[in-house]
Amino acid sequence: QELELKLEMLEKGGYDHFMLKEIYEQPRSIRDCMRGRIYPEDGTVQLGGIKEFADKLKNIDRIIIVACGTSWHAGLVGEYLIEEYARIPVEVEYASEFRYRNPIITEKDVVIAISQSGETADTMAAIEMAKEKGATIFGVCNVVGSSIPRLTHAGVYTHAGPEIGVASTKAFTAQVTVLTLMAFYMAQQKGTIANSKLVELLTELDCIPDKIHKALLSNDVIKSIAEKFKDSRNCLFLGRGSGFPVALEGALKLKEISYIHAEGYPAAEMKHGPIALIDEEMPVVVIATKNSSYEKVISNIQEVKARKGVVIAIVTEGDTEVKKMADYCIEIPDADEAFLPLLATIPLQLLSYHIAVMRGCNVDQPRNLAKSVTVE
Ligand code: AGP
Repeated sequence: QELELKLEMLEKGGYDHFMLKEIYEQPRSIRDCMRGRIYPEDGTVQLGGIKEFADKLKNIDRIIIVACGTSWHAGLVGEYLIEEYARIPVEVEYASEFRYRNPIITEKDVVIAISQSGETADTMAAIEMAKEKGATIFGVCNVVGSSIPRLTHAGVYTHAGPEIGVASTKAFTAQVTVLTLMAFYMAQQKGTIANSKLVELLTELDCIPDKIHKALLSNDVIKSIAEKFKDSRNCLFLGRGSGFPVALEGALKLKEISYIHAEGYPAAEMKHGPIALIDEEMPVVVIATKNSSYEKVISNIQEVKARKGVVIAIVTEGDTEVKKMADYCIEIPDADEAFLPLLATIPLQLLSYHIAVMRGCNVDQPRNLAKSVTVE
């Protein structure tokens, strides 16, 4: 019994749960994901897994991203980045809807299937259907040699290492990293981005693992905030731009490991109904980092405060503006907007983790959930 406990602690690298270990592995897993793929000094990205399609990528009509759950949230981040840098239209589809919808697909479409396990039944079915209709299929998977990589024409592994916790953390940030690299790679092929801009972006991307390490240093602050919200019955997560998929991901983390009802929303959508939910019992987590929509997010925070909502804001370190109005602030390092999702997700993972532990939930194996949904 004692030996078993000791072995389990060793397996978890001394952490109380696999999920916490995997949250803290992210500086390394993102470094592993980028290794051999980015060359900041000459501003180039190399993705060996899809290079035979480099020419095809120069004139495709559209990219369709299919995935489920957290991987679908990564796909939404991919949409922002690919459209912003490679100027290719992107649609993000729930695989479970896409597979039954009889969508219009042509040979000029590329489908990107995102899956940590590489075994998700709905995503596999969506791939089979798109393949039959002539699309080129890329995979973004974590488990080498799993079913989905064997179904696709090409792909890019995330190299995040085994993810044991059912709630995905390091796989999500590795997926977002791969999608960032794919966006830059496609932009490079299409010539939609100046080399000098790529040098600048890749130089900053190279520093992201260190910035994630710095974001993890807020753990104690986050734990103290978690203490105040562990008995909440509901929670809203708000974000704009690429902060919106981060809000969705933060809500899913809280739902699946603490069983608190949570919803992610585009911050501007609040006035179209959900703001009716706001009262002093409703914690609202807002991604309020310094980026193009900062001023608008500030007004959204003021709307929530005017209705006695309790605001937990994720802010850029050194922010003084939001600090005047939010009830709690968690700082993350400043970074180019392209890399906001990688940094802003970290505090949300830790917030959900600590709340779930304080509620006595089974963090690594939440009730009703499986690590890979191989059923339909
Ligand atoms: C995320 O924390 C969940 N475990 C779940 O939503 C997961 O992302 C989804 O089932 C997709 O799994 P996959 O990435 O292995 O395809």
